[in-house]
Amino acid sequence: MEVIIRETEQIASDMVAEILCEQVRKHHDTVLGLATGRTMERVYSRVAEIHKKENVDFLHTKTFNLDEYVGLSPENKNSYRYYMNELLFDQINIDLRNTYLPNGMANDFEVECKKYEETIKNVGGIDLQLLGIGESGHIGFNEPLSAFRSRTRVKPLTPTTVAQNSPLFDNPEDMPKRAISMGIGTILDAKRIVMLVTGEKKADVLAKAVEGPVTAMISATALQLHAKCVVIVDEAAATKLQGKDYYHWIFQNEPEWESFR
Ligand code: F6R
Repeated sequence: MEVIIRETEQIASDMVAEILCEQVRKHHDTVLGLATGRTMERVYSRVAEIHKKENVDFLHTKTFNLDEYVGLSPENKNSYRYYMNELLFDQINIDLRNTYLPNGMANDFEVECKKYEETIKNVGGIDLQLLGIGESGHIGFNEPLSAFRSRTRVKPLTPTTVAQNSPLFDNPEDMPKRAISMGIGTILDAKRIVMLVTGEKKADVLAKAVEGPVTAMISATALQLHAKCVVIVDEAAATKLQGKDYYHWIFQNEPEWESFR
């Protein structure tokens, strides 16, 4: 795992946007794994800007989102399909038929989850997976005790996650308490992972995820087992990292970091 600390949330988000666009520039038919949430809003707005300014071509790009709430249709403003269409897909030249999210309205969730896994497999797997982290330590909606080998399935959400996300609903009570989420095993199969973490509210959980012992109580610690994972954070999120000086030093002095710039 590699940690890059940037001065501000904007600079950290721009860097992640640049990594996504660079992947698409290099491989037009790339498969991206995407996340939603407040942290990603700046990233997608920057991706849309870069697309317009530099003509980055998303026509042959495929995307798979990490998760979707159970019971929310694509027309629901709080669904992740709605979020993705609004913030990213409608802003770039992607073919919507190449954008996949789990179906929160599926009749049979077991079948839906299997199908999602198979579709990812059939396109050759995810080349670059984007992640945020929840206050419960989740990646996707892999709440504490999610198995490191888990695949896409329905997960009940923790009170921490409900408290984190329910303010985004007009009526907080309407937030579904279950979601379909790629498993930790699905995420770890991605060839490359970039996690973005910003803001002082995430400082504690980030330190545990990156520097703490690997534990199913904090799903993001599973990323320590991935061979190509970079964690990009702002100064506010980095305050509790013990190795902060070392991470700064590497970013400034080691040329192999270039691969992530
Ligand atoms: C969303 C997702 C979640 C979020 C996490 C952080 O698709 O998978 O893991 O990345 O909850 O959310 P924000 O950015 O709103 O703090």
